[in-house]
Amino acid sequence: MAKSYNIALIPGDGTGPEVTTEAKKVLDAACAKHGVKINYQAFDFGGERYMKTGETLPDSAVEEFKKFDSIFLGAIGHPDVKPGILELGILLKARFTLDQYINLRPVKLYKGVETPLRDKGPEDIDFVVVRENTGGIYTGMGGTVRENTSEEAATQIMLYDRRTVDRCLKYAFEYKQRRNKKCAKYAEKPITLIHKRNVLTYTGDLWWRAFNEMGDSQFADIKRDYNHIDAANMWFVKNPEWFDLCVTENLFGDIITDLGAMIQGGLGIAAGGNINPQGVSMFEPMGGSAPKYTGKDVINPLAAICAAGLMMDTLGETKVAENIEKAVSDVLASGKIKSLAAGKMGMGTKELGDFVAKSL
Ligand code: IPM
Ligand code: MN
Repeated sequence: MAKSYNIALIPGDGTGPEVTTEAKKVLDAACAKHGVKINYQAFDFGGERYMKTGETLPDSAVEEFKKFDSIFLGAIGHPDVKPGILELGILLKARFTLDQYINLRPVKLYKGVETPLRDKGPEDIDFVVVRENTGGIYTGMGGTVRENTSEEAATQIMLYDRRTVDRCLKYAFEYKQRRNKKCAKYAEKPITLIHKRNVLTYTGDLWWRAFNEMGDSQFADIKRDYNHIDAANMWFVKNPEWFDLCVTENLFGDIITDLGAMIQGGLGIAAGGNINPQGVSMFEPMGGSAPKYTGKDVINPLAAICAAGLMMDTLGETKVAENIEKAVSDVLASGKIKSLAAGKMGMGTKELGDFVAKSL
């Protein structure tokens, strides 16, 4: 009997619907090859709905999402909505309420893709970032006093507790363990904790001790390394080949994964997963809603297609995931895509989606 999955689709704003359509096209074609079936249910959360109803992501929707196997999100962000409302109300609300405590972001340079790093190639850029996704400064603790006076003050607290740190580290170590089994080249490289423990002596120390205790007691066969976040920024550019799995707290992960996206060729190819290993996860291309490209058939759907692959991998459909990844990789290696940037691909959004689907 065919295995089937129920996926909640949130095409969202701007170019979100266009890339979601292509991701779905490729996903359906790949699933058909492997006897997997996907049932989609679409939700219209996003800027348009917010402007009409004032609603971002109601609690009832979160409850409904819990019944799905996964969520796929196109993009969130609308030029007529004040920045922060949709991000907090939809994206961060889903992450928090569904306890998607891992943000998984592969940084992989495919053959045929140009990186801004001179002298670096696909053999040098192939790692993943595990970003803690619900804690730290994103927890939302803090406040202001004496607002709108010359004495105004504000705080924003980087909150971490041992359980939050431990569950993120556990996911990272286990992911690293699976990577090491997959490829000897990965196994030679360490898992790298990224923080700023020379200054953030409280939270940095919490992460550092938890990392080493877990490494020593449960993953003694895995090599470990540590970088301060500022240095990691430097090494991502100068020696990306040193990295295989980076694990870090929320804000540092947010920042460094944008850098990661650039060295792998840009937002056109960067995908991410908001993962609750025990619950419902949500996958998305890293790029935003790109209002100026909306409806023009020029946006790159590859990041969304890769996000669909990541979703299938997380659901345990390894064959489907590998098929999607191989098709993307073949399409890029073909040399027929001029650039990953919107409007410069040398083909349209739909055409590129068709190309990947045919290459499966
Ligand atoms: C990301 C984004 C979000 C974040 C924003 C849109 C809230 O930058 O997914 O990296 O900061 O996590
Ligand atoms: Mn970000």
